[in-house]
Amino acid sequence: MGKATGFTAGPRAQGEAPEIGVGMLGYAFMGKAHSNAFKKIPYIIYPPPAVPRLIAICGRDEAAVSEAARRYGYEAYYTDWRKMLEDDRIQLFDNGGSNDVHAGPCIAAVQAGKHVVCEKPLARTAGEAKEMLDAAQKAGVKHMVAFNYRFVPALRQARDLIRSGALGRIYHYRADYLQEWVMPHYNVGMIWRLGKKTAGSGALGDLGAHIIDLGRFLVGEITSVSAMTRTFVKERPLPDGSGMGKVDVDDAFVAAVEFENGAIGTLEASRFAAGRKNHQVLEVNGEKGSLRFNLERMNELEVFWVGEQPRETQGFHNVLITEGYHPWMSHWWPQGHIIGWEHTFVHELAHLLDCIVNDRDVAPDGATFEDGYRAAVVCDAILASASTKRQIDIRY
Ligand SMILES: NC(=O)c1ccc[n+]([C@@H]2O[C@H](COP(=O)([O-])OP(=O)(O)OC[C@H]3O[C@@H](n4cnc5c(N)ncnc54)[C@H](O)[C@@H]3O)[C@@H](O)[C@H]2O)c1
Repeated sequence: MGKATGFTAGPRAQGEAPEIGVGMLGYAFMGKAHSNAFKKIPYIIYPPPAVPRLIAICGRDEAAVSEAARRYGYEAYYTDWRKMLEDDRIQLFDNGGSNDVHAGPCIAAVQAGKHVVCEKPLARTAGEAKEMLDAAQKAGVKHMVAFNYRFVPALRQARDLIRSGALGRIYHYRADYLQEWVMPHYNVGMIWRLGKKTAGSGALGDLGAHIIDLGRFLVGEITSVSAMTRTFVKERPLPDGSGMGKVDVDDAFVAAVEFENGAIGTLEASRFAAGRKNHQVLEVNGEKGSLRFNLERMNELEVFWVGEQPRETQGFHNVLITEGYHPWMSHWWPQGHIIGWEHTFVHELAHLLDCIVNDRDVAPDGATFEDGYRAAVVCDAILASASTKRQIDIRY
């Protein structure tokens, strides 16, 4: 394994890697992204820490879930997650369901002794996330929240540079995460992402949770927030055609935040940013330089080093993060042959398998349920700040 990943195949991985049985909840967007990653791990991350065996996938619609099982190569399917969790062949439960089916199935899974990975946001509220964290800690299993951007090589490289002190004292963290797909011209009805009961929050939990987690990953703990939220379209057609449903989550938020280490930051997420498809851009400014990342150019890191170049040529420059010595890249192609968004899930799930098989800690490289809970506390504080028009101190 490449040294830069901090990932070493344990002795058990060097001969025949053990199999880990996977049970997947959800077969849509994330079900597909995670299944794709599990299938690539045995030959891309080589030797693999473990070989994922796709035991079963779960969804409510039998025709659709049986087709998904065939398509992705699962041995079986279930239409009830409770039944799937009774399957002893499953050691790792992967929750790619909507936010309202995160807590119940994850808690039942850890109580059944299964390791668990859950999509973000971990839960709809911090209280719900805390119940999940407590249950996972009590069960003593490995737990991970799928904050996959921690596994973008350029972002992991940024974290390593910041941790090494290369940027010196950190002054600013500035992050935007913008999309446009719920704007009126898309004619989106009342889907689960637009209701508080099913999603918890809107752009905040969907997009904001990622940049909150990256702020914690790159800079440190957030100590206060001061925020605004907005819902631009308040009613949308119900899927059964019976009328209009109330949108009770945010379409966008902005927040000013303080960090424990004295840095200050701004966070913004919106699903109403015309022309923005999946625009995640962040910048960290420190005493000795700055780093900038743009997900649409995810193999690059823009850097500026104070005083390192002649005055006439000073400026930000692009570094292509595709060398074998960059995080995770030794597993892929020769330098300059870029990787894509889906590969973040390969890194993330390989890390989890390594932690399971070799009894290593998911944190700090991966996000645990503790990180998911902390991101949820910040999300709740952003909502509280927006509704009270006050700055809120963060307490875990
Ligand atoms: N990490 C990322 O980049 C990223 C990207 C998109 C979504 N997500 C997260 O992934 C999760 C799923 O999002 P998605 O985009 O895949 O949503 P989706 O609507 O495409 O899929 C949701 C899946 O959940 C299943 N489901 C819902 N209730 C169920 C139940 N009771 N029993 C069984 N299956 C059930 C649905 O059948 C569907 O397969 C969400 O928490 C979301 O926030 C993460």
